[in-house]
Amino acid sequence: MDFYAEDANIFEGFNSDTSDNRQKVYIETYGCQMNVNDSEVIASILTTNGYAITSNIHDADVILINTCSIRENAEVRVFGRIDLFGQIKKNKPSVLIGVLGCMAERLKKQLLEQKKVVDVVVGPDAYRELPILLRAAEEGQKGVNVLLSREETYADISPVRLDKNGVSAFVSIMRGCNNMCSYCVVPYTRGAERSRDPKSIVREVEELVKDGYREVTLLGQNVNSYRWEESKGMIKHFVNFSDLLEMVALINPSLRVRFSTSHPKDLTNDVLYTMAMYENICNHIHLPVQSGSSRILKLMNRKYTREDYLARISAIREIIPDCAISTDIITGFCTETELDHDMTLSLMQEVGFDFAYMFKYSERPNTKAARLLSDDVPEEVKTRRLTEIIELQGKLSEQSKRNDIGKSYEVLIEGVSKKSQDEFYGRTTHNKVVVFPKGNHKIGEFVFVEILDCTPATLIGKIVNE
Ligand code: SAH
Ligand code: SF4
Ligand code: F3S
Repeated sequence: MDFYAEDANIFEGFNSDTSDNRQKVYIETYGCQMNVNDSEVIASILTTNGYAITSNIHDADVILINTCSIRENAEVRVFGRIDLFGQIKKNKPSVLIGVLGCMAERLKKQLLEQKKVVDVVVGPDAYRELPILLRAAEEGQKGVNVLLSREETYADISPVRLDKNGVSAFVSIMRGCNNMCSYCVVPYTRGAERSRDPKSIVREVEELVKDGYREVTLLGQNVNSYRWEESKGMIKHFVNFSDLLEMVALINPSLRVRFSTSHPKDLTNDVLYTMAMYENICNHIHLPVQSGSSRILKLMNRKYTREDYLARISAIREIIPDCAISTDIITGFCTETELDHDMTLSLMQEVGFDFAYMFKYSERPNTKAARLLSDDVPEEVKTRRLTEIIELQGKLSEQSKRNDIGKSYEVLIEGVSKKSQDEFYGRTTHNKVVVFPKGNHKIGEFVFVEILDCTPATLIGKIVNE
């Protein structure tokens, strides 16, 4: 996924009319893109139930925090925020505080005991209940709903979009995860994998196009195992991920299509052929490897070896010659030796990842690794290995950007650069951020940009063929 728990996402307020007497809700979001998209669903449920959204926490009648459990740090940060909300509540006792998302699911009613200021705890499959739970909390009745579902996909809910530029949107195509990687909490916090009806996905994307959106990112923990089954009379009809990708790509040839995350064990050639066939499907695959050592991969229950992973990389290079590849890496997993670590470094070098998210292993309670393996790599060794991995990736990312200098790419203008009012930012098909002078263009347009230079994080360019 594109960013992780350490950044918060705040909903911009809309309809902040002061004569408005609706209750105002402030939503803060941590974690992956799926959580961001869930907050959009939550905003939709609440606004259709008479609430207004605010980006000003001090103006809020209800403060919601949509949380992540993926690493301990993510949870520590959220606990800090809850304490801060407690301070606000001291000055304004009528404020309701709700904890949503993966921590709500993991900690359940323990959260109410641990943090007295919390009024409601709602898990990822129970957001439809949020208005009822909030009304009960107003009457002084604290509430918890953390039931996981085998069916809930929120298919009929049109998310209220967080992206105020109206250019790029997330579309969840499935929920949950069945993979049971030994280190991971997601199968416990998000429940079993279920796919969303392709008709509702296509409908949502068509609506987005009508509203002027130019890019969609199809989201799931493992999009390659998307599967929808429908019986028409005696005939069974299947839609797999490559079928879905094609259906979405065909909606509009100028709509950019991205997806995340792919699992190496499930990324099939038919998906790669579909990507190669449609110009509007971006040439970028996020393919988390986690480790370069087959022994560690086995302990992680990833179900592929180093060689299998490298074979998928070769297939990508062959079928889509110009495809960016990014990854996730966990360092310091249980029993990891220097040799295992060196294998991760050598795999990184061999693939030449364009980008990577890199993490120290963080033991999560009740996962298979926590129950059966010992978290035996000392903290300072984890830190040193992480530093080495980050350093190497820094070089690879720079190399990847340097290779773009002198080339021109089609870029979707997504917004005004944070550093300069006179510049826009956007991304290339490879998901690399480019900044360039505005010219006479507008947000939401596609332009050709020649890459002139780069910094460690961004490409720098100028618009060509005006
Ligand atoms: N479903 C996606 C990723 C979900 S979590 C996938 O399978 O690729 C995002 C990333 O967080 C993972 O890819 C992994 O690198 C990291 N991660 C997950 N659990 C972790 C843990 N216990 N400690 C450290 N990193 C972890
Ligand atoms: Fe976690 Fe593995 Fe599922 Fe990804 S595929 S969410 S890492 S269990
Ligand atoms: Fe975090 Fe839950 Fe996403 S644990 S990474 S918010 S699925």
